[in-house]
Amino acid sequence: MSKNILPFEGPGLRKLRRALLAWYDQHRRELPWRRNTDPYRVWVSEIMLQQTRVAAVLDHYARFMQRFPDVRVLAAVRESSVLAVWSGLGYYHRARRMHQAAKVVVRERRGKFPQSAAGWLELPGIGRYTAAAIASIAFGESVAVVDGNVERVLGRIAGANPGREAAWQRAEAVLDRRRPGDFNQAMMELGATICTPRAPQCLLCPLYTWCVSRGAEASRPQPPRKRKELHYALARENGAVLLMQRAADAPIMAGMWELPIIQDDQRNGDKPLAKLKHSITDTDYEVTVLPVSAERSHGITADGRWFTRKRWERLALTGLTRKILRRLALEPSAVSSESK
Ligand code: ADE
Repeated sequence: MSKNILPFEGPGLRKLRRALLAWYDQHRRELPWRRNTDPYRVWVSEIMLQQTRVAAVLDHYARFMQRFPDVRVLAAVRESSVLAVWSGLGYYHRARRMHQAAKVVVRERRGKFPQSAAGWLELPGIGRYTAAAIASIAFGESVAVVDGNVERVLGRIAGANPGREAAWQRAEAVLDRRRPGDFNQAMMELGATICTPRAPQCLLCPLYTWCVSRGAEASRPQPPRKRKELHYALARENGAVLLMQRAADAPIMAGMWELPIIQDDQRNGDKPLAKLKHSITDTDYEVTVLPVSAERSHGITADGRWFTRKRWERLALTGLTRKILRRLALEPSAVSSESK
């Protein structure tokens, strides 16, 4: 199988597997979802890690596990509670589908998770990558995974990256079938920590011996990032802030709460309360927060609602709005200590 797919086979391939697993055993990061192979913990981690770096996931993972310690608790809560804990992680459809999947597992499978990648694929929010990751890590099924990191590692080793589909074949060919979960995680870990897109640390790489490109770029070129400006209104009254709910059918962050957006023609010369940068997918935003009086806020939004900190802390806020509210330290205690 490995023939024509990878530039090495037989004994070389066995050595490569051994070298990668030895590196992983010694250098792997101690991450909370690696403490055991409980499928619920692995599932939550794999959904959170989709398109999201480990460092950004850690806090959310801890809070999620505390609030929803098992699939029965998750299935029983309201969707808005799940979104509130997810707030800041982005790609909110992940949380919605996870919640739907939890209900399916509890109602239709008596709380029992599927044990194979094929079984996982039938649940909401589970694609080829996630099914294979969970089945290999939690149940030891011999299936390979490919994400962006694995595709880049395999492309560099082989000296060419012929695309995602070929990467799946290559990944199956290199997979260590005795330790598939560890091997998959080792490939991802190598891509995240050593074989990085820019400035890979080839001298620390356990696969250096086998690598054709040795750091030369074999990843696909990325499209340039977009830049946009965004102005938000911060209206406050009696310790509450004005927030708006995004439309239920909005293409992104549907149903989440955020500060009202000020259109270009609604801006006046007010001094900004804050300026910050925020990146979502392929766009870098330059964000300006402007103060708006309660009276003037009616001209900006007619259907906002007022929330005290106690309420907005538990609300499904967009990550950017949460960042702004925290940055401006809008808790009542901060305001009163300022005025002392
Ligand atoms: N990225 C997504 N899942 C991962 C895992 N289990 N280990 C390392 N990186 C990952």
